[in-house]
Amino acid sequence: MSIDFTPLNTDAGFAAEVTGVDLSRAMETAAFLPIRDGLDKYGVLVFREQDLDEEAQIAFSRHFGALEVSIRRHRPRAVAHDEISDITNVAPDGSIYPLDGEHMSYNLGNQLWHADSSFKRVPALVSLLHAREVPPKGGATEFADQRSAWDGLSSETQSRIDGMVGMHSLAHSRATMGYDAEAQFMDAEKEEVPPVRQALVQTNPRTGRKALYAGAHVANIVGLEKAESDALLIDLRDRATMEQLQHHHTWQPGDLVIWDNRAAMHRGRPWDNSYRRVMRRTTVAGDGPTA
Ligand code: OGA
Ligand code: MN
Repeated sequence: MSIDFTPLNTDAGFAAEVTGVDLSRAMETAAFLPIRDGLDKYGVLVFREQDLDEEAQIAFSRHFGALEVSIRRHRPRAVAHDEISDITNVAPDGSIYPLDGEHMSYNLGNQLWHADSSFKRVPALVSLLHAREVPPKGGATEFADQRSAWDGLSSETQSRIDGMVGMHSLAHSRATMGYDAEAQFMDAEKEEVPPVRQALVQTNPRTGRKALYAGAHVANIVGLEKAESDALLIDLRDRATMEQLQHHHTWQPGDLVIWDNRAAMHRGRPWDNSYRRVMRRTTVAGDGPTA
């Protein structure tokens, strides 16, 4: 088996499908490095027909670095490991969570364009999302290339915003979708995610490429008046999510999609909640605070 990368959007060099690798088997560093380099290059990698249990997904994910634990680990969950985020509408007892309950209200935040865990002091670097069960239609995940978004800004805008700092807050982004963090977060969750500062422009140290980092968790830009901050965020987000920057992934069971949160934003799309959708995510922690 030899590993191959097929670009999925040839113009932009954003997102590629990877074939010729079985991620359920232990992998040598020499075999892993092309995957890391491919992720640096394409920002999003798609692997099909990967038969991964929690342990295999965790083992492969660790090649990228130390893993985060899920902020939802204190809740009843259908997964065994704290390192797995249970992105699902199926409760541990097998029933489907109602759309108006806490669980789905929290998960609705995934439908906003975002970078994972940017609300943590050390934000996520790589996310790895594995499809276990998917609805017959809907429930796609969309990605937007934040490197090309940066490249497309005028040099005036680039020099204005490079060096700016965003204040990121999970309570803020969840509130956008009607979730009341004050009432609904557990005390342990509140303590874990106070607002944090992150650079508004991120740089991949291996490639030197810069990228916008202005997803839904950004509540405001540090040092700007509210009106100016809101206007700048609206403008940047419009530019960051233009159709031509996007790659849409339609899920099949067994797909593993991995993305670099410094290079791409993503969002989930709605589906008919009478169908089960069961996804498992592992998340690789970054190197440190970015601002
Ligand atoms: C995530 C996420 C979107 C989806 O797992 O980080 O945002 O489509 N998921 O499930
Ligand atoms: Mn996400």
